[in-house]
Amino acid sequence: MPETLTLREGYFGDPAAFQALADLLQDIFGIDISHQMNLGGPDPTSMPFGYFDPSGRCVANFSAFSIPLVVNGRVVRAAGYQSGAVRPDYRGQGLYRALMKRAFDWSEREGFEAGILLTDKPGLYETYGFRTVPQFKFHGAVPHADLAVPRARDLDLKQEADLHIVQIALGGRQPVSEIFSVVRQKEMFLLNAHFDQDIRLSLLEEDDAVIAWKPQGDTSLQILDIAARQIPPLGHIVASLGAHFERAEVFFPVDRLGWDGVATPHQGDCVLMVKGLDLTSLAQPFMLSPLADF
Ligand SMILES: CC(C)(COP(=O)(O)OP(=O)(O)OC[C@H]1O[C@@H](n2cnc3c(N)ncnc32)[C@H](O)[C@@H]1OP(=O)(O)O)[C@@H](O)C(=O)NCCC(=O)NCCS
Repeated sequence: MPETLTLREGYFGDPAAFQALADLLQDIFGIDISHQMNLGGPDPTSMPFGYFDPSGRCVANFSAFSIPLVVNGRVVRAAGYQSGAVRPDYRGQGLYRALMKRAFDWSEREGFEAGILLTDKPGLYETYGFRTVPQFKFHGAVPHADLAVPRARDLDLKQEADLHIVQIALGGRQPVSEIFSVVRQKEMFLLNAHFDQDIRLSLLEEDDAVIAWKPQGDTSLQILDIAARQIPPLGHIVASLGAHFERAEVFFPVDRLGWDGVATPHQGDCVLMVKGLDLTSLAQPFMLSPLADF
């Protein structure tokens, strides 16, 4: 490690250091995580490990955070890993290897039983026991709701009252699937909804349910996630979003939707990798909701 660099961990309490990480991720990935400050703040469980130069610039980072999962009906205490990057002029010197080791050692000391990450470079993590798992989305015709259903209302995260509604829904949500889903994760849901302007958040007032979705042409829609105390049936949800939708594509396991979609492989930019999780016993295909992406 270059002698001029300082290693810092758990530094989100320092606003300048958080902004330095935001600058690193903006420069490397073109995303601005500082928007989290308008959405309730970063995940309080985050444990970032970073190298900083004498001017306070973050030149490398790798973060762990707590992401409890439901897997086959069981709550699994998992650590997620994110925000991994090294500035080009500091690459090839072992900085990332050192940060990964620190984060994995920390997770082990903290007693996490599993690890999970999303990456376009799976080779980086195989050495540390991570394995790629295939993901599947689900599609099919939409069942018709039996009764007339009230129309959903669109929410706008820039409106404080609407943001509050989404935060409350996320705080009290039922995991969207018993097969594979996050138990509760607010920060990434809000940031992902903020980043992708095509995502619509709609409130089913009578059900206290927030639906993250995208229309696809005139007659199809994608359901990306649902934050609700009780997940409503798919027919009910779709009728609230628009009676003209005939087909749905769902981006999480559909066991709570009262609907059987056809599973097809999901090819995203990144693959899902896990360690410490035996997924061979899972009876059904699954994917991690895009709103839980990190
Ligand atoms: C990938 C990246 C973080 C590597 O940083 P680095 O400091 O150069 O990595 P290190 O020198 O610590 O090397 C660590 C290991 O990763 C390997 N590695 C480096 N770049 C790699 C790549 N692009 N693909 C696969 N493995 C890679 C190295 O060979 C080394 O392996 P070893 O431990 O078996 O010797 C850096 O190139 C980067 O920031 N890239 C752009 C952002 C990115 O892809 N981040 C990862 C997102 S999941």
